[in-house]
Amino acid sequence: MEETKLLSCNEDDLEIAAKLLRDGKIVGIPTETVYGLGADATNSKAVESVFKVKGRPADNPLIVHISGMDMLERIALDIPDLAYKLAEKFWPGPLTMVLKKRDTIPGVTSGGLDTVGIRMPSHPIIKRIIELAEIPIAAPSANISGYPSPTTAEHVMNDMTGKISVVVDGGRCHYGVESTVISFDDSQTIRILRPGCVTKEDLEQIYKTVIIDDAVLNEVTNQSNVCSPGMKYKHYSPKANIVIIDGSFDCFKKYISHHNGENVYSLIYDRESKDFPYQHLTYGNNSDEQAHQLFEKLRELDKVGAETVYVRTPEKNGVGLAVYNRLIRAAGFEVIKL
Ligand code: TXA
Ligand code: MG
Repeated sequence: MEETKLLSCNEDDLEIAAKLLRDGKIVGIPTETVYGLGADATNSKAVESVFKVKGRPADNPLIVHISGMDMLERIALDIPDLAYKLAEKFWPGPLTMVLKKRDTIPGVTSGGLDTVGIRMPSHPIIKRIIELAEIPIAAPSANISGYPSPTTAEHVMNDMTGKISVVVDGGRCHYGVESTVISFDDSQTIRILRPGCVTKEDLEQIYKTVIIDDAVLNEVTNQSNVCSPGMKYKHYSPKANIVIIDGSFDCFKKYISHHNGENVYSLIYDRESKDFPYQHLTYGNNSDEQAHQLFEKLRELDKVGAETVYVRTPEKNGVGLAVYNRLIRAAGFEVIKL
């Protein structure tokens, strides 16, 4: 078993990380959304090992991270004007655009598709590492496939110790949920494949026709007809059985009073804690805070030995849609409406 070292974010350590990436190694890297498992996106062997350490299905493509617009044109083809407009507004930042790929990106990286998801992150550490390595970096979230995404270096260490050479410690991620993934149906429509902190409302300020793909809120039943392969798989899921309860706080309390038990926990809003007599954790008071805390709290629920977790539902608009999208997958689509 390989020893996994924690690197700091000084220039010397970032140079070590960049060198490892150039040599085809995998590096745990902080971004403003979640930590990623970075590898040279143009190196099939390196990318194959990312799929292996994550236990990720080969048909689920990776997002490629770039540090400048020159890199975009090295990896994508036929880039629509609308993509440039969105890049101007939202890059660097938590937006991934699915575009036609060039041959510089091998099929392993794109899960066999002729498109590639591309994002220019704003976090100074990943940005600097890409600049130093001078290669586009493929990076899925740095969790074991199916488990909640990591938002601290410690989470990455928990999942990846002995499997990768280094993790760069950049502290807690700012947003806490993964980027918004969009595609362009034609030049007329933006389709949200995965909601994130660049919201539908944000995108509508740049372009009027924005639709939310069916797979964002519904379980995928027809496996062959899915725009974003990631939506097919169970996700973000701790060991505990997660159940979303959709209703008022009073109804929620009454429900828990009938379903309480030794390893039963609730995940509620901070402000509700003082009026809630049952075992619980809280995950903030609004959608931004919930996005920031969600994955960390799901991991904490495993630590305390929760077997069943009832979750107070988040909002379903703005950033709340991203939180809800992760939660319904963690819950295997189990939502109780009161
Ligand atoms: O914020 C993020 O996006 C993080 C950080 C590390 O950048 N990365 C991340 O990667 O969340 P991952 O691999 O966990 O999720 C990538 C998602 C999957 O749902 C995948 O199916 C979708 O993006 N995706 C990637 N390339 C695609 C493509 N060519 N077409 C459709 N969906 C794509
Ligand atoms: Mg992921």
